[in-house]
Parts: sequence; C-alpha cells; structure tokens
Amino acid sequence: MAKQAFQTVRGMYDLLPERRRLFDYVMTTFAAAAVEAGYGQIETPVLEDEGLFLRSIGEGTDVLDKEIYALTDRGNKRLALRPEGTAGVARAYIEHGMGSLPQPVRLFYMESMWRYDRPQEGRYRQHQQLGLEVLGDASPSSDAQIITLMQRVYRRLRLQKMSLQINSIGDAECRPKYRKALVEYLVEHTGQLAELDRERLAKNPLRVLDSKEAATQSVLADVPQTLNFLCAACQAHFAGVLEYLDDLGITYELNPLLVRGLDYYSRTVFEFYGQREGAQASLGGGGRYDGLLEQIGGVPTPAAGFGGGIERIVLELEAAGVVPPYTEPRRAYVASLGEPARLVAFRLIEQLLDVHVPATGAVDKDGIGAQLARADKLGVPYAVIIGQKEVQDGTVLLRDMTSGAQETLKLGEVAAELRRRFDIS
Ligand code: HAM
Repeated sequence: MAKQAFQTVRGMYDLLPERRRLFDYVMTTFAAAAVEAGYGQIETPVLEDEGLFLRSIGEGTDVLDKEIYALTDRGNKRLALRPEGTAGVARAYIEHGMGSLPQPVRLFYMESMWRYDRPQEGRYRQHQQLGLEVLGDASPSSDAQIITLMQRVYRRLRLQKMSLQINSIGDAECRPKYRKALVEYLVEHTGQLAELDRERLAKNPLRVLDSKEAATQSVLADVPQTLNFLCAACQAHFAGVLEYLDDLGITYELNPLLVRGLDYYSRTVFEFYGQREGAQASLGGGGRYDGLLEQIGGVPTPAAGFGGGIERIVLELEAAGVVPPYTEPRRAYVASLGEPARLVAFRLIEQLLDVHVPATGAVDKDGIGAQLARADKLGVPYAVIIGQKEVQDGTVLLRDMTSGAQETLKLGEVAAELRRRFDIS
C-alpha cells in the first residue's frame, strides 16, 4: 500500500527556524513597547462559544458569515476557533471582573487566529496577530496612544514607509441616520453596484464602503460620508483624537470610506499600510468599540484597540530588506572517533551545555572526516576532537575551524577555555 504523504492544511503554513526568527523579532519588539507603555499580556483560549462572535463581530460581515471555523464538540456545544482577539479579551475582562481594577486596563496579545479565507500571499486560514486593547477609558487620548504606540513599533522595526488612514463612523446615536442616508443613496444606484455589493447592501450596507469591486467604485465617488453625519459628541471625540495626533506631528489621511470589517466599531477607526500594495496591504487596524462589552453581557465599558497581522509585517520587512539583528550563537562541535571516545564525547556535550557553552555533535556515527565536514557546514568556530589516544591521555584536540590549527587541551579545561573564547561571562 502506498504511503500517505501529508501536507499542511490549505491556507496554513509551517514556520521554519529562519523565518520564525523574523516573527520573533516582530513579537519581541511589539511586546517590549507594549510593556513599557503599561500593557500586560493576556492569553485567551483558542476556542470560544460561537455565540460570542455572533454577538460581537456581527452577522453580515465576511468574518462571521463565510470565514468562521465553527464546530460542535462531543457535548453538542457550538464552539468556534477565534477569528480575532478583541471579543475574547472583552469576554475575559467581564468574566474576571477587571472592571474593578484601576481603569483603563491595558492588555496585549500575540496569538494565532483562524479565518476560512481564500488563501493568497498575506492572507491565510491561520494567521498570527499582535493586538492591544485598552478597556475602561472613553477619552480620545486612548485612541491616539494606541496609534502612537503602533507607530513606535513600526519605527523600531525599521519600517519607514508606513501610512495611516483614519475615520470616524459615529456611534449608536448618529450612525442610524448615516446608515439611512447611505442606504437611500445606494438603493438609488443599485444598478451600478457589483453583484457582491448588492448582497452587502441588503445585509450590511456599511460594508459596501470598503468594497474593492471595480463596478462599485464610481458609486462610491459621491457616497454620503460618515463625517458629515456625526453627532456633537462624536465630532468632539474625533477632533480630540486628531488634536493629539497633530500635536505630535503624526501624518494621517482622512479616509471617509474606511469602516473596517467587523461590526463592533464605533467612532474612531484606523488602518496602517506599508509599501506593499493590493488587498492584503493592511498591516493592521483597529478603533474604538464602546458598545461591545455591553453587547456581550457586561456593563457599558468604553474601549479601543488594534490588531495587526504578523505575517504581513514580516512580508513588509522582507520587501524593505530589513534584516533583524540576529546572530547564531557560537557553538562547539564535539567529534569523536572509536568506542571509548563515544561516551566521553556524549558526556562532554552535556557538561558544556550545563555551563551555557553552546555545543552539538553526533557522537555515535561517521568517521572523523565526515564529522568535521558537518561541523564546517554548520559554520561552528571550534571542533573538539576526541579519539582513542585522547581518551587514554584525558585530553582533547581543540580545532580552530577557520585556520585548521589544532592544540591539545586537558579534558577538564575544555569548558573554561571555550567560555573564554566565546566571551561567556
Ligand atoms: P482585522 O482588521 O480583522 O481586525 O484584523 C487585523 C489584522 O490582522 C489585519 O489588518 C491583517 O493585518 C491581519 N489579518 C486579518 N486576517 C488575516 C488573514 N486571513 N491572513 C493574514 N492576516 C490577516 C481585528 O481582528 C480586530 N480584532 C482588531 C482590533 C483590536 N480592533 C480593536 N481591537
């Protein structure tokens, strides 16, 4: 019977060590900036009650209607793999009574998300997101601080060509009026809308605004804009956010069509773009979601946040030619020849590792030539060679892999000598 060759599930990927280092660079840079700004890291379970996403993300959004990975468990409970992080964090805030902590509560996360999307570069069925949530503060300064924190992260990652788009989509008071005007306008122009947008118009008309469909673009040129419908409180909030950004000299573009793909937003929404183009260009986005906590059973709690795809940041780093500052640790390769040397070599590797000297080796196979060739391929600076004679004498040969020079050392002195040569204090 032929062997079954398994592959990664469509839209998912293996992260091999070299690329994983880029992810690590992004994550450690983000986490350090978040911790400095007073955020604590949170991890929520991969699976949540499906109803949480129904109530928060909203029906009529692509994420909920087409992309959710839902399942029924053995107890007949409907669960879903989280497609995003905000809903789970909001649930945790309520469940753990974080409303009684000093407000606002600032949380960050770096987690995998699942969306049954059409896979392509920058769009996966399992992606990793870094995110921030600030819960319990209604002030525009929180919105601005989330933006400035992410700008700091992009700057530290050495991504130069970032742009920021921002909009306000109003709140429960003014959005219904806007929605009504929008629907009236779109209904008048139904004939010009792309098929997909006609469906969106029926289900969730705001989604038409960020349509990428070519046919719809001419309709959007004169579409009513959210900013013209804001109530006084939303206007003041938005002006407040922009004042903080202006004060710091942060450049942004007002994009009246920016609405974002999840239903829980109110007031501020924003999105960051890099130099890569196309539908997968958004490096991250977020906004305010003052109604969400109440919607999922909590007391009214204003909140705002951000989420960004790590893969897209990594693609951007690669496009910009940014190489993270990483150096493989200098390592010793222990090579041995013959039976009595095998155990000595095995023991030496363990002794070296115990005192933090990076070491490796294959102790029970191949001749010395093949072992040294492997050491060479690995690019190690030193090989420690143990043959029969060395075992008898209680010594080793220390070989400088660059010059080929060899010297004899006492077995008991190897660790200290390598620590000295590798500058391990
Ligand atoms: P989102 O815009 O749906 O927002 O996702 C945030 C970011 O995750 C996107 O800008 C993109 O970089 C990345 N992303 C989303 N889907 C995929 C995918 N299929 N493959 C690769 N990357 C992807 C949220 O999820 C909100 N929870 C953000 C937020 C936090 N708003 C407030 N707080």
